[in-house]
Amino acid sequence: MTSTHAFGIDFGGTGIKGAPVDLGKGDFSAERVRIKTPAKSTPKNVAEVFVELLASFPESTDPVGVTVPGVVRHGVVRTAANIDEEWIGTDADKLFSEATGREVHVVNDADAAGLAEVRYGAARDQRGLVIVTTLGTGIGSALVYDGVLVPNSELGHLEIDGHDAERRAANSAREREDLSWSHWAKRLQRYYSTLEQLFSPDLFVVGGGVSKQSAQFLPLLDLETKIVPAQLRNDAGAVGAALYAAEREGRS
Ligand code: BGC
Repeated sequence: MTSTHAFGIDFGGTGIKGAPVDLGKGDFSAERVRIKTPAKSTPKNVAEVFVELLASFPESTDPVGVTVPGVVRHGVVRTAANIDEEWIGTDADKLFSEATGREVHVVNDADAAGLAEVRYGAARDQRGLVIVTTLGTGIGSALVYDGVLVPNSELGHLEIDGHDAERRAANSAREREDLSWSHWAKRLQRYYSTLEQLFSPDLFVVGGGVSKQSAQFLPLLDLETKIVPAQLRNDAGAVGAALYAAEREGRS
């Protein structure tokens, strides 16, 4: 009963990337297309990019999954920490489905990455509680228990030592403040110890672009929980979004 394919789109701050995904393999079945994110990334402008992107794959008719860096409840975007405020309250499933003429399902970016890592990547076959975090402009989080996603956990916004955690520990904080790896690792230590204390997870997976350099900071952390880099790297968002869309359509 597997649909073998769904289409995944990763909507990020600089680029919007999409491709058909082979859900058996958890990989793209055609070369991914990337279009620059519009300078003013309002829902309407972004919808236009999706139409253009999908037009590059005229043979694909499968459901479409789209990541959004905010809380998404029943297709409606509820928060916009790092994106245009116009997103708040937008029924993105409806807007994108109408604009593209396809079945579109929107999912939080970290939740998409979490689904992909659990199905195909670093947390494959892991039982119990997996917390996938993405370290980028913000900190995204996905809680997955025995393969089931508990959506919109938003653990990047935990208040730790009086600060919104992502302001101190996201990769953007490292870059903005020009922190050394060891200085940044101290902040990550505080962050992951707090998560550990609150959730007693079985595994942490660390994603986001900086996970390519995980050798610089993961060995500096002292945690009881195993912590590993993500495996799908840049593709986790689009692959996870495609998986989400297929699941919503009862196809996976
Ligand atoms: C947002 C999350 C998102 C994360 C990563 C946070 O600021 O609130 O929804 O998953 O950034 O993009």
